[in-house]
Amino acid sequence: MKAANKPKVTLIGAGPGDPDLITVKGSKALANADVVLYDALINRSLLAYAPNAIKIFVGKRKDFHRYSQDEINQLMVENAFEFGNVVRLKGGDPYIFGRGAEEVEYIESFNIEAEVISGISSSMAVPASQGISLTKRGISESFWVITGTTSERKLSKDVYLAAQSTATVVILMGMSKLQEIVAIFKQFEKGNLPVAIIQNGTTTNEKLGLGTIDSIVDVVKRNELSSPAIIVIGEVVKESAKLRSFYEELNIEKI
Ligand SMILES: C[S@@+](CC[C@H](N)C(=O)[O-])C[C@H]1O[C@@H](n2cnc3c(N)ncnc32)[C@H](O)[C@@H]1O
Repeated sequence: MKAANKPKVTLIGAGPGDPDLITVKGSKALANADVVLYDALINRSLLAYAPNAIKIFVGKRKDFHRYSQDEINQLMVENAFEFGNVVRLKGGDPYIFGRGAEEVEYIESFNIEAEVISGISSSMAVPASQGISLTKRGISESFWVITGTTSERKLSKDVYLAAQSTATVVILMGMSKLQEIVAIFKQFEKGNLPVAIIQNGTTTNEKLGLGTIDSIVDVVKRNELSSPAIIVIGEVVKESAKLRSFYEELNIEKI
């Protein structure tokens, strides 16, 4: 079948989970989609923006066939040649631990136009939803966003560097490495540093765990927190108007 539209793939960042946190540009581009390939972490209600499109779930979920990255790449290209406008709807922002760059390279290697529409990354929006300002005058001059699971399934070595700084540290995909992360911060005598863990942030299933480097592993066990979650480490956590009272009761000293 000949494509009605010129082949094109648009990577759209769907935002962190709250469907209202997609961009206007993203929702407009969805309306023109002939095919939507969507991930597990996107809010399904966003698919309503693409009423006439074929929708294909390509995320990782129990009981579903798990598409490899090669299969997803192939699906994007095949559907673009067959149907025209393909949207690849991805959680957060496509370029923040989203394999967006690899997908764009693959698409362009077939001389297909690729466009990326940025999304609001969970790394910023989820802390913000708990009143955590990643930078704050006099408290934190920078923030690091680090992966807890590199392509070799290891904790990023950057955590060692970040733990020695005064930066706010945001770790994605880090729940299975929490003990390792905590051990690194302890090496630098940061046991009192505040930590917030937010699971399914900005959604109706949101769960929160608060503590310090010394206590957070127990907090996670007690509250049964798991992935997908954001780990936020830094003094800014206790500056949040929403979370401040928790830390005032702990009465911990600044490091
Ligand atoms: C493969 S990364 C993709 C990140 C995405 N590109 C972004 O910018 O948000 C998936 C990880 O992001 C984090 N994440 C995404 N959405 C989240 C949410 N609503 N609440 C908490 N963590 C989330 C979790 O650490 C999850 O394991």
